[in-house]
Amino acid sequence: MNRQQRNSLPDFRPALFSHLRRAHLWLTRGAVFVFLVCGVAAFGQQTSLPRATTARPLNERVADYERAERESWQKPDEIVKALELKNGDVVADIGAGTGYFSRRFAKAVAPAGKVYAVDIAADILEFLKKDSEKQNLNNIVLVLSKEDDPMLPENSVDLAFFSDTTHHIANRANFYRKMRPGLKKGGLMAIVDFPPDASVHPHKAEELVPRSQVIAEAEEAGFKLRKEFKFLPRQYFLVFEKTDQEHQTNQTIPK
Ligand SMILES: C[S@@+](CC[C@H](N)C(=O)[O-])C[C@H]1O[C@@H](n2cnc3c(N)ncnc32)[C@H](O)[C@@H]1O
Repeated sequence: MNRQQRNSLPDFRPALFSHLRRAHLWLTRGAVFVFLVCGVAAFGQQTSLPRATTARPLNERVADYERAERESWQKPDEIVKALELKNGDVVADIGAGTGYFSRRFAKAVAPAGKVYAVDIAADILEFLKKDSEKQNLNNIVLVLSKEDDPMLPENSVDLAFFSDTTHHIANRANFYRKMRPGLKKGGLMAIVDFPPDASVHPHKAEELVPRSQVIAEAEEAGFKLRKEFKFLPRQYFLVFEKTDQEHQTNQTIPK
Protein backbone atom coordinates (compact mmCIF):
# COMPACT_ATOMS: atom_id res chain seq x y z
CA MET A 1 0.00 0.00 0.00
CA ASN A 2 1.47 3.41 -1.01
CA ARG A 3 1.18 6.65 0.99
CA GLN A 4 -1.71 7.92 -1.15
CA GLN A 5 -3.70 4.72 -0.54
CA ARG A 6 -2.88 4.88 3.21
CA ASN A 7 -4.04 8.51 3.41
CA SER A 8 -7.34 7.63 1.77
CA LEU A 9 -8.17 5.09 4.57
CA PRO A 10 -10.44 6.35 7.40
CA ASP A 11 -8.45 7.21 10.55
CA PHE A 12 -9.85 5.15 13.50
CA ARG A 13 -7.38 6.50 16.03
CA PRO A 14 -9.45 9.42 17.47
CA ALA A 15 -12.44 7.10 17.99
CA LEU A 16 -10.22 4.44 19.57
CA PHE A 17 -8.63 6.98 21.95
CA SER A 18 -12.05 8.31 22.86
CA HIS A 19 -13.27 4.74 23.71
CA LEU A 20 -10.14 4.07 25.76
CA ARG A 21 -10.57 7.37 27.63
CA ARG A 22 -14.21 6.52 28.42
CA ALA A 23 -13.29 2.97 29.58
CA HIS A 24 -10.57 4.44 31.79
CA LEU A 25 -13.04 6.92 33.28
CA TRP A 26 -15.58 4.17 34.08
CA LEU A 27 -12.91 1.91 35.57
CA THR A 28 -11.72 4.77 37.79
CA ARG A 29 -15.30 5.53 38.88
CA GLY A 30 -15.89 1.83 39.59
CA ALA A 31 -12.72 1.58 41.67
CA VAL A 32 -13.67 4.69 43.67
CA PHE A 33 -17.16 3.25 44.28
CA VAL A 34 -15.79 -0.14 45.43
CA PHE A 35 -13.24 1.63 47.63
CA LEU A 36 -15.96 3.77 49.24
CA VAL A 37 -18.32 0.85 49.86
CA CYS A 38 -15.57 -1.37 51.27
CA GLY A 39 -14.04 1.52 53.16
CA VAL A 40 -17.32 2.41 54.87
CA ALA A 41 -17.91 -1.24 55.68
CA ALA A 42 -14.41 -1.81 57.01
CA PHE A 43 -13.66 1.46 58.73
CA GLY A 44 -16.98 3.25 59.27
CA GLN A 45 -19.39 3.29 62.14
CA GLN A 46 -22.72 1.65 62.77
CA THR A 47 -25.25 4.20 61.53
CA SER A 48 -28.54 2.42 62.30
CA LEU A 49 -29.79 -0.38 64.51
CA PRO A 50 -31.25 -3.61 63.12
CA ARG A 51 -34.95 -4.17 63.77
CA ALA A 52 -35.65 -5.42 67.29
CA THR A 53 -35.28 -9.19 67.63
CA THR A 54 -38.72 -9.30 69.27
CA ALA A 55 -40.26 -8.18 65.96
CA ARG A 56 -40.07 -11.90 65.10
CA PRO A 57 -42.25 -14.51 66.81
CA LEU A 58 -40.58 -16.56 69.55
CA ASN A 59 -40.63 -19.84 67.61
CA GLU A 60 -38.74 -18.22 64.71
CA ARG A 61 -36.08 -16.81 67.04
CA VAL A 62 -35.65 -20.15 68.80
CA ALA A 63 -35.28 -22.00 65.50
CA ASP A 64 -32.80 -19.40 64.28
CA TYR A 65 -30.55 -19.21 67.37
CA GLU A 66 -30.56 -23.01 67.87
CA ARG A 67 -30.11 -24.11 64.26
CA ALA A 68 -27.55 -26.91 63.91
CA GLU A 69 -25.70 -25.25 60.99
CA ARG A 70 -24.66 -22.43 63.32
CA GLU A 71 -22.18 -24.57 65.18
CA SER A 72 -19.82 -24.88 62.18
CA TRP A 73 -18.97 -21.13 62.15
CA GLN A 74 -20.07 -19.98 65.61
CA LYS A 75 -17.79 -22.55 67.28
CA PRO A 76 -19.44 -22.15 70.71
CA ASP A 77 -17.41 -24.85 72.47
CA GLU A 78 -14.14 -23.37 71.22
CA ILE A 79 -15.24 -19.92 72.38
CA VAL A 80 -16.04 -21.20 75.88
CA LYS A 81 -12.72 -23.09 75.99
CA ALA A 82 -10.78 -19.98 74.91
CA LEU A 83 -12.27 -18.03 77.84
CA GLU A 84 -10.57 -20.42 80.31
CA LEU A 85 -13.42 -20.43 82.81
CA LYS A 86 -13.10 -22.39 86.01
CA ASN A 87 -15.28 -23.83 88.71
CA GLY A 88 -16.72 -20.96 90.78
CA ASP A 89 -16.57 -18.24 88.11
CA VAL A 90 -19.58 -16.03 87.53
CA VAL A 91 -20.51 -15.21 83.93
CA ALA A 92 -23.10 -12.73 82.67
CA ASP A 93 -24.37 -13.81 79.24
CA ILE A 94 -25.82 -10.52 78.04
CA GLY A 95 -28.46 -10.92 75.35
CA ALA A 96 -28.58 -14.60 76.30
CA GLY A 97 -31.43 -15.47 73.91
CA THR A 98 -32.27 -19.17 74.10
CA GLY A 99 -29.19 -19.87 76.25
CA TYR A 100 -27.03 -21.15 73.40
CA PHE A 101 -23.98 -19.94 75.35
CA SER A 102 -25.49 -19.77 78.87
CA ARG A 103 -25.89 -23.53 79.14
CA ARG A 104 -22.28 -24.08 77.99
CA PHE A 105 -21.04 -21.51 80.52
CA ALA A 106 -23.17 -23.13 83.23
CA LYS A 107 -21.33 -26.42 82.68
CA ALA A 108 -17.91 -24.72 82.51
CA VAL A 109 -18.27 -22.96 85.89
CA ALA A 110 -20.15 -25.73 87.77
CA PRO A 111 -20.63 -26.74 90.47
CA ALA A 112 -19.72 -23.59 92.42
CA GLY A 113 -20.12 -20.95 89.71
CA LYS A 114 -23.18 -19.47 88.07
CA VAL A 115 -24.45 -17.72 84.99
CA TYR A 116 -26.62 -14.63 84.82
CA ALA A 117 -28.69 -15.07 81.66
CA VAL A 118 -29.51 -11.45 80.86
CA ASP A 119 -32.04 -10.41 78.22
CA ILE A 120 -34.63 -7.72 77.58
CA ALA A 121 -37.07 -10.23 76.06
CA ALA A 122 -39.22 -11.96 78.68
CA ASP A 123 -40.49 -14.63 76.27
CA ILE A 124 -37.03 -15.90 75.33
CA LEU A 125 -35.98 -15.98 79.00
CA GLU A 126 -39.04 -18.12 79.70
CA PHE A 127 -37.88 -20.52 76.97
CA LEU A 128 -34.34 -20.53 78.45
CA LYS A 129 -35.71 -21.28 81.93
CA LYS A 130 -37.75 -24.29 80.77
CA ASP A 131 -34.91 -25.58 78.61
CA SER A 132 -32.27 -25.34 81.36
CA GLU A 133 -34.62 -27.11 83.79
CA LYS A 134 -35.00 -29.93 81.27
CA GLN A 135 -31.20 -30.16 81.11
CA ASN A 136 -30.84 -30.07 84.91
CA LEU A 137 -28.76 -26.89 84.80
CA ASN A 138 -29.55 -25.29 88.12
CA ASN A 139 -26.86 -22.60 88.18
CA ILE A 140 -28.47 -20.24 85.67
CA VAL A 141 -30.09 -17.12 87.10
CA LEU A 142 -32.44 -15.15 84.83
CA VAL A 143 -32.17 -11.36 84.64
CA LEU A 144 -34.89 -9.50 82.76
CA SER A 145 -32.87 -6.39 81.98
CA LYS A 146 -33.45 -2.91 80.52
CA GLU A 147 -32.39 -1.78 77.05
CA ASP A 148 -29.78 0.55 78.51
CA ASP A 149 -28.78 -1.45 81.60
CA PRO A 150 -27.91 -5.14 82.07
CA MET A 151 -28.83 -4.80 85.76
CA LEU A 152 -26.02 -6.93 87.14
CA PRO A 153 -25.67 -7.26 90.92
CA GLU A 154 -22.77 -5.11 92.11
CA ASN A 155 -19.24 -6.57 92.09
CA SER A 156 -20.51 -10.04 91.18
CA VAL A 157 -19.28 -11.00 87.71
CA ASP A 158 -15.92 -12.31 86.41
CA LEU A 159 -16.90 -12.24 82.74
CA ALA A 160 -19.56 -10.31 80.83
CA PHE A 161 -20.12 -12.03 77.50
CA PHE A 162 -21.94 -10.76 74.40
CA SER A 163 -22.61 -12.93 71.37
CA ASP A 164 -24.37 -11.43 68.35
CA THR A 165 -25.92 -8.85 70.66
CA THR A 166 -23.86 -5.64 70.75
CA HIS A 167 -25.20 -4.47 67.37
CA HIS A 168 -28.69 -4.40 68.97
CA ILE A 169 -27.65 -2.06 71.79
CA ALA A 170 -28.25 1.64 71.08
CA ASN A 171 -25.65 3.46 73.16
CA ARG A 172 -23.05 0.86 73.93
CA ALA A 173 -20.49 3.00 75.77
CA ASN A 174 -23.18 4.07 78.25
CA PHE A 175 -24.42 0.48 78.48
CA TYR A 176 -20.89 -0.72 79.32
CA ARG A 177 -20.56 2.06 81.91
CA LYS A 178 -23.74 0.85 83.61
CA MET A 179 -22.41 -2.69 83.46
CA ARG A 180 -19.01 -1.81 85.02
CA PRO A 181 -20.06 -1.84 88.70
CA GLY A 182 -21.40 -5.38 88.18
CA LEU A 183 -17.93 -6.61 87.19
CA LYS A 184 -15.38 -7.55 89.81
CA LYS A 185 -12.03 -5.72 89.85
CA GLY A 186 -10.12 -6.79 86.72
CA GLY A 187 -13.26 -8.49 85.37
CA LEU A 188 -13.46 -9.30 81.67
CA MET A 189 -15.83 -8.38 78.86
CA ALA A 190 -15.85 -10.59 75.77
CA ILE A 191 -17.54 -9.50 72.55
CA VAL A 192 -18.29 -11.79 69.62
CA ASP A 193 -20.07 -10.12 66.72
CA PHE A 194 -20.18 -9.71 62.95
CA PRO A 195 -18.09 -6.98 61.31
CA PRO A 196 -19.85 -5.16 58.44
CA ASP A 197 -17.53 -6.83 55.92
CA ALA A 198 -18.09 -10.40 57.16
CA SER A 199 -18.49 -12.99 54.40
CA VAL A 200 -22.00 -13.77 55.70
CA HIS A 201 -23.90 -11.64 58.17
CA PRO A 202 -27.48 -11.38 59.42
CA HIS A 203 -28.08 -7.64 58.93
CA LYS A 204 -27.19 -4.78 56.60
CA ALA A 205 -23.55 -3.64 56.83
CA GLU A 206 -24.53 -0.25 58.31
CA GLU A 207 -26.40 -2.04 61.13
CA LEU A 208 -23.26 -3.83 62.31
CA VAL A 209 -20.42 -2.54 64.46
CA PRO A 210 -16.90 -2.47 62.99
CA ARG A 211 -14.15 -3.92 65.18
CA SER A 212 -12.49 -0.50 65.52
CA GLN A 213 -15.74 0.99 66.84
CA VAL A 214 -16.11 -1.83 69.38
CA ILE A 215 -12.63 -1.10 70.72
CA ALA A 216 -13.18 2.68 70.82
CA GLU A 217 -16.47 2.32 72.70
CA ALA A 218 -15.05 -0.17 75.18
CA GLU A 219 -12.10 2.15 75.87
CA GLU A 220 -14.51 5.04 76.26
CA ALA A 221 -16.26 3.09 79.00
CA GLY A 222 -13.03 2.17 80.79
CA PHE A 223 -12.06 -1.19 79.28
CA LYS A 224 -8.73 -2.17 77.72
CA LEU A 225 -8.33 -4.74 74.93
CA ARG A 226 -6.42 -7.72 76.37
CA LYS A 227 -6.83 -10.52 73.83
CA GLU A 228 -8.17 -11.18 70.38
CA PHE A 229 -8.98 -14.61 69.02
CA LYS A 230 -8.96 -15.13 65.28
CA PHE A 231 -10.46 -18.59 64.87
CA LEU A 232 -14.01 -17.47 64.02
CA PRO A 233 -14.47 -17.34 60.25
CA ARG A 234 -17.24 -14.72 60.24
CA GLN A 235 -16.79 -12.74 63.43
CA TYR A 236 -14.40 -10.88 65.67
CA PHE A 237 -13.84 -12.18 69.19
CA LEU A 238 -12.39 -9.53 71.49
CA VAL A 239 -11.65 -9.77 75.20
CA PHE A 240 -11.37 -6.59 77.30
CA GLU A 241 -10.42 -6.05 80.89
CA LYS A 242 -12.08 -3.55 83.19
CA THR A 243 -9.54 -0.86 84.10
CA ASP A 244 -9.63 1.32 87.22
CA GLN A 245 -10.25 4.37 85.07
CA GLU A 246 -13.63 5.19 83.58
CA HIS A 247 -13.50 7.60 80.63
CA GLN A 248 -16.19 10.23 80.36
CA THR A 249 -16.80 11.10 76.69
CA ASN A 250 -20.22 10.33 75.26
CA GLN A 251 -20.82 8.28 72.13
CA THR A 252 -23.26 9.29 69.38
CA ILE A 253 -26.45 7.27 69.48
CA PRO A 254 -27.25 5.58 66.16
CA LYS A 255 -30.83 6.29 65.06
C1 LIG B 1 -29.28 -12.33 68.02
S1 LIG B 1 -29.77 -12.72 69.66
C2 LIG B 1 -28.31 -13.57 70.27
C3 LIG B 1 -28.66 -14.53 71.38
C4 LIG B 1 -27.46 -15.30 71.99
N1 LIG B 1 -26.47 -14.41 72.54
C5 LIG B 1 -26.84 -16.21 70.98
O1 LIG B 1 -25.68 -16.02 70.60
O2 LIG B 1 -27.52 -17.15 70.56
C6 LIG B 1 -29.69 -11.16 70.50
C7 LIG B 1 -30.36 -11.19 71.86
O3 LIG B 1 -30.05 -9.97 72.53
C8 LIG B 1 -31.21 -9.50 73.19
N2 LIG B 1 -31.04 -8.04 73.35
C9 LIG B 1 -31.23 -7.07 72.44
N3 LIG B 1 -30.97 -5.86 72.99
C10 LIG B 1 -30.57 -6.10 74.27
C11 LIG B 1 -30.15 -5.25 75.34
N4 LIG B 1 -30.11 -3.92 75.20
N5 LIG B 1 -29.83 -5.82 76.52
C12 LIG B 1 -29.90 -7.17 76.68
N6 LIG B 1 -30.30 -8.02 75.70
C13 LIG B 1 -30.62 -7.48 74.50
C14 LIG B 1 -32.35 -9.91 72.30
O4 LIG B 1 -33.58 -9.97 73.00
C15 LIG B 1 -31.87 -11.29 71.81
O5 LIG B 1 -32.33 -12.32 72.64
